[in-house]
Amino acid sequence: MDTAIAFDGLTVSRGGAVVLDAITARVPRGSITGLLGPSGCGKTTLMRVAVGAQRITSGTTTVLGRPAGARPLRSEVGYVTQSPAVYSDLTVDQNVQYFAAMYPARRATAAADVGDAIAAVGLDRLRSRPVDRLSGGQRSRVSIACALVARPRLLVLDEPTVGLDPVLRAELWERFTSLADSGTTLLVSSHVMDEAAHCARLILLREGRLVGDLTPAELLGRTGAGNLDDAFLALIRSQEAHS
Ligand SMILES: Nc1ncnc2c1ncn2[C@@H]1O[C@H](COP(=O)(O)OP(=O)(O)O)[C@@H](O)[C@H]1O
Ligand SMILES: [Mg+2]
Repeated sequence: MDTAIAFDGLTVSRGGAVVLDAITARVPRGSITGLLGPSGCGKTTLMRVAVGAQRITSGTTTVLGRPAGARPLRSEVGYVTQSPAVYSDLTVDQNVQYFAAMYPARRATAAADVGDAIAAVGLDRLRSRPVDRLSGGQRSRVSIACALVARPRLLVLDEPTVGLDPVLRAELWERFTSLADSGTTLLVSSHVMDEAAHCARLILLREGRLVGDLTPAELLGRTGAGNLDDAFLALIRSQEAHS
């Protein structure tokens, strides 16, 4: 496996509690890895480690061959936080332009990149609309376009489909898939297990512990469950029985 992110024995404490406990897992390059588990299991914390925004207690995290948070990674890694971080008084276009301007090395191509990023999230027709006149789901997509404009090799998306209607959710997963097909690595979190079906690989967490680092097919095969939801449950139960 050609690895984009390697978590090795990663332990993180927040507010005096261990929130990630000796996590060892791999994110392969050029495909979608799903980070799944119930609310509070540590998904956002693990993503923060990957982008270099979270202090590590012990263990290591290597991203594109460098320690997580290393300076050269800044232009290689895009991070979309759980709540959309966009300027509500600016238009869609202006928001994406603003983020494009933060990558001066790419300025020559910035205008084309802005259009491509907006098209990639399906907001072409709303380019000149101020963000405060968009729906929540549209706003999330502006946030994703802002990350896309830098053409990161690794895109970390924290629960990007929460609150979206099923049609938009399906569209967004299609876009993630085409990004992966063109070589981008994606790490996408969700607390909804059925989204695992869109992922090439899964990192499953529960209460700060790794439950599985495997493909959806392996998850189904190992548990004999009929769907991914039941499979996750079966995996947790079998681990509890053995501990
Ligand atoms: N700023 C913080 N200070 C202390 N504990 C935190 C902080 N943020 C999150 N936590 C705790 O860390 C654990 C994991 O949280 P988080 O990574 O946000 O989970 P998830 O994204 O899966 O919902 C939770 O128990 C949460 O209460
Ligand atoms: Mg979270």
